[in-house]
Amino acid sequence: MTTLHTIRAISNQALRTKCTYLVAMPRDVKSELTKVDLPPSLRFDFPTAIVVVSCATGRNQRPNLIAVGAISHACIDPPMLGIAIGHTRYTYQVIAHSDSFVVNVPSKDQVEIVDYCGSVSGRKIDKFKACGLTPFASTKISSLGILEFPLNIECTIRKSVDLGSHSFYFGEIVAVHCDESILDDKGTIDKEKLEPMCAFLESYWSLREPVLRFGSHRKIRKAKRSYSKAKLGITY
Ligand SMILES: Cc1cc2nc3c(=O)[nH]c(=O)nc-3n(C[C@H](O)[C@H](O)[C@H](O)COP(=O)(O)O)c2cc1C
Repeated sequence: MTTLHTIRAISNQALRTKCTYLVAMPRDVKSELTKVDLPPSLRFDFPTAIVVVSCATGRNQRPNLIAVGAISHACIDPPMLGIAIGHTRYTYQVIAHSDSFVVNVPSKDQVEIVDYCGSVSGRKIDKFKACGLTPFASTKISSLGILEFPLNIECTIRKSVDLGSHSFYFGEIVAVHCDESILDDKGTIDKEKLEPMCAFLESYWSLREPVLRFGSHRKIRKAKRSYSKAKLGITY
């Protein structure tokens, strides 16, 4: 048998035994999975933010609204976020001819509006009118924002990637507007006043309480170290 035949034989054997890794595993890697396999599909199995995106093809065009859970931070400098829009959505026809969109962040008492924007198509309906919402002129882009939503993020589309059923739009954040009522006395967003939501397992959720502040592990480790030192009577 040639080397090539040997490699092929090993590969076929690996496929038969469903083992796709021919390389040796490090000793601390568990090779037998004790987990239950679920079908590889994208669902709300983990929480995502939930927002309403508004966009129009131009300043005088009828703006449309869509609920979006597929939203992500994308880049810090320049500041960018990304949203995925399905090709069957009316929004896709609008955004494909637009150079901008607004991410409108709702608070939890606006959940019914969010759900409406996520269930009804804007092909024949003006969702702004149907929900009694007020469009407001953005400062840097032609797409309009939702006045009643507490946080509005103006984005210029920098890049789009066709992924299959959805296209992913990278939007550079060019302006952010927020209601004064959700700010604390230092001028930063107060999480208890904004009360944003996330989408998780077929439901909208409010965020109840913070579990840990970012970067806290350093303080915790430091506190643990001084506790152990104190226990051992070390004073330096
Ligand atoms: C919670 C929730 C999240 C959604 N997230 C997305 C999303 O990220 N991208 C998308 O294309 N559609 C998403 N949808 C579906 C659209 O919001 C929905 O199909 C909407 O009616 C499309 O409106 P349009 O036809 O006016 O664009 C979501 C729906 C819900 C209820």
